[in-house]
Amino acid sequence: KNIAIFASGAGSNAQKIIDHFKQSDKARVTVIVCNKPGAGVLQIAEREGITSILIEKEAFLHSDKYIQLLKEQKIDLVVLAGFLWKIPANLVQAFPNRIINIHPALLPKFGGKGMYGHFVHEAVIAAGEKESGITIHFVNEKYDDGETILQERIIITPEDTPESVARKVQALEHQWFPVIVERLLTSSES
Ligand code: GRF
Repeated sequence: KNIAIFASGAGSNAQKIIDHFKQSDKARVTVIVCNKPGAGVLQIAEREGITSILIEKEAFLHSDKYIQLLKEQKIDLVVLAGFLWKIPANLVQAFPNRIINIHPALLPKFGGKGMYGHFVHEAVIAAGEKESGITIHFVNEKYDDGETILQERIIITPEDTPESVARKVQALEHQWFPVIVERLLTSSES
């Protein structure tokens, strides 16, 4: 099974997924799609010998160019790991229930455009939440809105800061995202 990872940032989730499948013959990450020149995830692709594609916004939003490419690469699952552009409808429709995203909060709260990275954890603490966590979900035409696949929680203590919450949430991301990717790819054989 072939996995495409879409990422805009450091790529720590991408790295965990790549590593997870090194010990497995079930699937492998065959392409990394990025929208930010110089992003850390591009260095990971380079180091791991994985094809990377730097996409342009116009073509991404208004053509089938990347859909054709993903089809040619026989991609079975598109994994968004910190990809900051909304997925256009034609791409969602080309891969029904085959695009997943991870969000560093308990959706439907603290989701949507602009709610990423540090901003999420600041908002969660500012709202006085007693817990946060991760949401792994299918992607549809709206931001952070598709059917939930998994949620895992962490407790927020009065001493927590956005940084300490980010660390606890990221630990959950790295623990669970590879597991869910494998489960989706192996269950699809049934
Ligand atoms: C993570 O917080 C993830 O939940 C969100 O974007 C960030 C990606 O981080 N979707 P990294 O680039 O995988 O380190």
